Amino acid sequence: MSRRNAGGMVLLVGLAAGLIGIGGGYILWGWPPNWYAARDVFRLPATPENQLIQYGWQLVTETPRLIGKSASDPALRYAGNDLACTQCHLKAGGKPFAAPFISTFASFPMMANDEVLTLTERINGCMTRSMNGQPLPESGREMDALIAYMRFIGKDSPEGVRIAGMGLLPLAPPQQKPDRERGEKIFSGSCASCHGTNGQGQRRLPPEVGFSVPPLWGADSFNSEAGMSHMETAAGFIRANMPYLTTDYRNPSLSEQEAWDVAAYITSQPRPSKPSEQPH
Ligand code: HEC
Ligand code: HEC
Repeated sequence: MSRRNAGGMVLLVGLAAGLIGIGGGYILWGWPPNWYAARDVFRLPATPENQLIQYGWQLVTETPRLIGKSASDPALRYAGNDLACTQCHLKAGGKPFAAPFISTFASFPMMANDEVLTLTERINGCMTRSMNGQPLPESGREMDALIAYMRFIGKDSPEGVRIAGMGLLPLAPPQQKPDRERGEKIFSGSCASCHGTNGQGQRRLPPEVGFSVPPLWGADSFNSEAGMSHMETAAGFIRANMPYLTTDYRNPSLSEQEAWDVAAYITSQPRPSKPSEQPH
């Protein structure tokens, strides 16, 4: 087993221990709690702080209606597309290896490329790249609500540590060079039924805005600066999460090589380039 795989095993064992912990409970057994158990924000008592958490959840799941490019309130049209955060941060940031938000609040600010990166800046990184739009005002209600929600779903998680399942599934380097043509065949066979033959996704029926299946490329997609536009990121996400509903990291559908190949195909398709000089 390579060193890299050994690292992956430790991560998975950690996660399994977390899952076993569900029944036993933290105090009785000393096992970590199940950080990924679903948390229903609408069962919280109606206090102003909880309403902020609920608004944060709505921003993650109903992004296009609230802050998308066709948002009901024109003053809040910050995103440049109609994607929802939850379409990449699956289960509203509660699915392991789908870029979850469990350790997010506790692990920011962090160092990235020798600079301090705050959570506000990281959220705005997704706003300007994945959402192809403009940054949210740093002290606005939307930013406060997103941070309150992330703090809530990571409540009591360890400070400064990333729990198992954070980020995306690490893949071994591809055994064969990732190949777009093989990827195109995988796309037609396993993805196009939902994402469309041109990767355009499926729009919700008006008056609803947004997508029931998000686009993977084209004018309505994330831009060329987004994490998902990098082959390695897309491959890790796809291997642990797609095709939708039948796939998770314990039960991948595609082989690692197939994930690399289909990611090579998707990331070679046209998409918006970084929006030029947006005002801050
Ligand atoms: C097109 C896919 C996509 C969309 C849409 C998207 N993100 Fe992300 N986001 C990513 C990826 C990929 C990462 C990096 C995951 C990794 O490698 O750890 C990321 C990382 C993050 C992180 C850092 C998490 C951490 O703990 O490291 C935050 C915070 C975040 N996104 C917030 C948002 C919010 C809020 C929205 C909606 C307004 C959003 N994202 C929409 C793909 C997306
Ligand atoms: C059964 C329908 C279905 C199939 C099949 C499917 N997807 Fe998805 N995909 C979705 C849905 C729905 C989402 C958004 C998930 C959510 O909102 O919870 C998504 C999200 C994604 C995302 C992140 C969002 C974005 O805009 O990029 C990528 C990448 C992706 N799928 C790639 C693939 C690939 C590659 C395949 C084939 C191997 C595939 N999908 C097969 C339904 C599907």
